[in-house]
Amino acid sequence: MKILLGVTGSIAAYKAYDACRMMIKDGHEVIVVLTKGALRFIKKETFTYLGAKRVFSHEDDFTEQLFDGPVLHISLAKWCEKIIILPLSANTLAKIAHGQADDLLTSTLLSSSETPVLLYPAMNTQMLLHKRTAQNISLLKEFPYYHFHSTDEGLLACGDTGEGKLPALEKIKTLYEWLPACSLEESQVKKILITTGATISPIDPVRYITNGSTGITGMYMARKFLQQGHHVDLFCGIHSTKEIDYLKEFKHVRIFRCSTTKEMAKKIQQVRENCDLFIAAAAVSDFEFAYRPSKIKKEALRLNEMNLSYEMAEDILLSFLKVKKEHQLSIGMAAESKDHGTHYFIEKWMRKKTDLLIGNYAFHQYGDENEVPLSMGFGQESNGYYFIEEGQVLQNNISLSKNQLANEIYQWFLTKKAVYDSTI
Ligand SMILES: Cc1cc2nc3c(=O)[nH]c(=O)nc-3n(C[C@H](O)[C@H](O)[C@H](O)COP(=O)(O)O)c2cc1C
Repeated sequence: MKILLGVTGSIAAYKAYDACRMMIKDGHEVIVVLTKGALRFIKKETFTYLGAKRVFSHEDDFTEQLFDGPVLHISLAKWCEKIIILPLSANTLAKIAHGQADDLLTSTLLSSSETPVLLYPAMNTQMLLHKRTAQNISLLKEFPYYHFHSTDEGLLACGDTGEGKLPALEKIKTLYEWLPACSLEESQVKKILITTGATISPIDPVRYITNGSTGITGMYMARKFLQQGHHVDLFCGIHSTKEIDYLKEFKHVRIFRCSTTKEMAKKIQQVRENCDLFIAAAAVSDFEFAYRPSKIKKEALRLNEMNLSYEMAEDILLSFLKVKKEHQLSIGMAAESKDHGTHYFIEKWMRKKTDLLIGNYAFHQYGDENEVPLSMGFGQESNGYYFIEEGQVLQNNISLSKNQLANEIYQWFLTKKAVYDSTI
């Protein structure tokens, strides 16, 4: 992707070095434009050393610095596919909000028509909360292609504590990489419901049974659908990866963290009716213990007097399949331990006839000799997947990263949707 990285005069400007390096490392072409204010904090040359394609400063429109055409701000606006201003000062924010164009960066912004602009404000809390700044942010939010990233709370460079910090790189990355490239027409927008991660089955106030699912799989799926302009309701476990929360920066996502299967089932029941696609990727607890309100004492554990009673938890996917409407598509996931053969996947499909069932093997192998447990599936970036439709294994153990799996699912959904639409 061709990124124009604008850097302005915030104390956080030095963090633009790392952000620029990250973007280049991720395979993007980056042109940097520094404001007059930015030059009080950082150096132009450093971006060149870090690999930026070109680096310009505020007055370069008038210094015969050419790039792809006779007028610099026009050629820059035509060249870039995304504009990222990181950090964004209160001053430049005010200028952009009021359509000013008194330096290279603001002139470029005014010359770009609907290029997505991603703004990362960073300033003192008072500046951020000032009515004028709030008004300026609201003005820009009226434009569909302007996106604001929220700031972090913490100790600021000036010594105050509060809102206004530039977010960490990993957070920055989520939105700039996955910001929807297009906004879909209303009729094209689909509602996707995804469950991911593990629920817990509490025994007493301090103990519970769970599994090793981290929620990464569903997170990648949610990101893919959000990037394509769809709306996502994501249900995850309370301990699922914190990266899931970074998705809150997207406009059309709702994230529901759930502890027990019962809680997840109840919340899903309230929203499942309107979804176009239901993806059950969560490893939910299949049973729920009769909860003991006070901690079970060690003595009772020793004497084997726990007498744990439990009941089967609601099968969230099965419940959905029972009430599913004709246009709604469903994807189930099945995780088996390695000793179980593919017929277990088929057997699951026979019980829950989803439009697509994705099987994979998942386990943690613990033991004294393994300082870190050996894992497959859980918490790993890739795995072997089995795609089952109509009780037939169509793809047998194809190796995919979880990101690739999300892409496959997205393509599958488009195809199925097109087939359905052609029949009505
Ligand atoms: C030490 C220092 C730190 C500053 N930090 C910030 C900041 O974090 N955010 C901000 O909006 N302005 C900050 N300012 C004020 C801006 O640098 C000033 O408004 C400048 O005109 C911004 O120029 P620009 O918008 O052209 O980059 C700071 C100023 C100083 C002297």
